[in-house]
Amino acid sequence: MKTFDVYPLFDIEPVKAEGSWLWDNKGQRYLDLYGGHAVISIGHSHPHYLQKIKEQLDRIAFYSNSVKIQLQEELAMKLGELSGYPDYSLFLCNSGAEANENAFKLASFHTGRKKIIAFKGSFHGRTSLAVAATDDPSIQAPVNANEQIEFVCLNDFDGLNKAIDQQTAAVIIEGIQGVGGVQVPTTEFLLKIRELCTQYGAMMILDEVQSGYGRSGKFFAHQHASIRPDLITMAKGMGNGFPVGGVLISPDFKAKHGLLGTTFGGNYLACAAAIAVLDVIKEENLLKQAALTGKHLMDSLENLQGIKAVRGYGLMIGVEFEHACAPIRKALLEKHHIFTGSSSDKNTLRILPALNLGRFEVDFFLKAIQQLAPVTNHN
Ligand SMILES: Cc1ncc(COP(=O)(O)O)c(C=O)c1O
Repeated sequence: MKTFDVYPLFDIEPVKAEGSWLWDNKGQRYLDLYGGHAVISIGHSHPHYLQKIKEQLDRIAFYSNSVKIQLQEELAMKLGELSGYPDYSLFLCNSGAEANENAFKLASFHTGRKKIIAFKGSFHGRTSLAVAATDDPSIQAPVNANEQIEFVCLNDFDGLNKAIDQQTAAVIIEGIQGVGGVQVPTTEFLLKIRELCTQYGAMMILDEVQSGYGRSGKFFAHQHASIRPDLITMAKGMGNGFPVGGVLISPDFKAKHGLLGTTFGGNYLACAAAIAVLDVIKEENLLKQAALTGKHLMDSLENLQGIKAVRGYGLMIGVEFEHACAPIRKALLEKHHIFTGSSSDKNTLRILPALNLGRFEVDFFLKAIQQLAPVTNHN
């Protein structure tokens, strides 16, 4: 049997990883500024993370959600404290798309409504409603067609005003649009969504799957705007590579047995991984570090030739070139052995490294991009 061929692959086979570095099967070292798509939050193979998972594996790896799993309570306590949402509840699942599906269900159960407002350029996952709320028809199968979803341009106040009404169950927005090319909703726009959702009795869902867990220099990107959504979804950085996702649910929602459920969500190993990530974020002060390193990196990039715009917060950075960035991304990988990310905007390169990226690594990247940007610009 072969694997179903849906991913365009680099001809690179990583066999070892540590901190912000990867090594392939030929011994070549790579700087990881992509974090396996914003997943690596505390760095590859962090000793505390490895120890927590290994110890848990030796005790018990899995049982179902029909028994008490104390690690889920510990995770919820630590997450509530570090994220600034101690009064919210946590529902654990396995991925970002699944977190969004559950958030949509909760919003619909709670309001009794069906209509969802999403934004142009959005990405919310590949499952049923999550993909319907994603602004990319090429990944929507006919069965995903859903007339309940209305797309509005990001930061378009008039469009939002016209779209929202008494039928709206939820407005879903990414803390920072990732796949869309690191597009940042303005503080005023987030405040307006909050205001209109409250006015119309709709739920505000913040998709923090990519922008959450410290990536923006705050625990969640929407905290730059000081708003409190009704539902917050997360995944990627939560387990530093171990598959785990979750929904933070405001105290206004009432839980009922059987309302939501999952076989694997909240399993012992996922909880051990997620707790280890929170421990390291707290102990190593990674929110502050991501904010400082990100600022230094963004300021330095802004001064470089050939770069049109630098967007983002913390270590979620979009570098927009005056031309398609594919040749630069290729050269970074092949000549300088640096992984970066692409986006649906062909001119924008995404930088999504571990939150404890060091100054040496930042300078390594800046030197490489300085050499490449002006050269590729003349082509
Ligand atoms: C903002 C956002 N939401 C949801 C998802 C889907 O997450 P997953 O691939 O874990 O289902 C992604 C994945 O890239 C994402 O960036």
